[in-house]
Amino acid sequence: MIQEQVPFNPTYDDWYFSPGSGYDESLYVFYEGNEISSRFSPAFRVGEIGFGTGLNLWVLLHELSSLGISGSLDFRTVDEAPPKPRVVEQILHPYIDQLGGPQEHSRYLDYYQSLTSEENEGWHSVDLEIPIPIEPNQPQTPSKMIVSLALWRGEASDMVTALQKEGWLADGWFLDGHDPKKNPKAWSDELLKTLARCTKVGGTLATYSAAGRVKTGLREVGFEVRRRKGFGTKRHMVQGWYRGTGID
Ligand SMILES: C[S@@+](CC[C@H](N)C(=O)[O-])C[C@H]1O[C@@H](n2cnc3c(N)ncnc32)[C@H](O)[C@@H]1O
Repeated sequence: MIQEQVPFNPTYDDWYFSPGSGYDESLYVFYEGNEISSRFSPAFRVGEIGFGTGLNLWVLLHELSSLGISGSLDFRTVDEAPPKPRVVEQILHPYIDQLGGPQEHSRYLDYYQSLTSEENEGWHSVDLEIPIPIEPNQPQTPSKMIVSLALWRGEASDMVTALQKEGWLADGWFLDGHDPKKNPKAWSDELLKTLARCTKVGGTLATYSAAGRVKTGLREVGFEVRRRKGFGTKRHMVQGWYRGTGID
């Protein structure tokens, strides 16, 4: 019998996402917080701090696919200790229907498995092709979303340094590295400074944290920051736009 896992990370004494409402929370905070539906363009680039179970990526792909949006997505993420695939399977089990059904669920788990099977530090990548469903009675050529997915195994500050060396620039960031009070390393000034240098002018970010030091840190490295109502019982979250000045 599979024991139901709760999405809790004992290392940081914090949740991966809100238990019971992970899909809706990810949709609200990261997808809508970055205004992805209206901003998505071919060759869109998303960066993430904190891959965890990968739920944010799966939500992003499922939402784009539901809107019939095709193109290509370059998704770069980082995790120092991604959970084991069998744990991810159990944690994501309650979201099977929202993620598109058992077939989609097992497809995602296969990708997760191949992405995390090797444990050496640095980039691990996998290419995905997501077929876009065609509306019945609509004579269209089948289209797809081509996803280049790369996970940096290791420290978030090393991942953004690697992106900067490559000259990689994000259209949007998902800042999901646990509560800054419990995990300040994932929100350090140095990390935010490099992250800003890996963001297109006008690029966005979103995070559930509205902590004062997060907002101040982001402003100091060149982001315009504003608070928005938080998900569920959380009072606030933060959205940001990179104005491209103040750091060089
Ligand atoms: C809140 S969870 C991410 C939840 C995830 N987005 C999901 O959908 O399941 C934060 C993740 O960040 C990782 N993490 C925390 N601090 C880190 C750091 N300094 N560098 C790299 N990964 C880090 C943790 O291992 C954890 O998996």
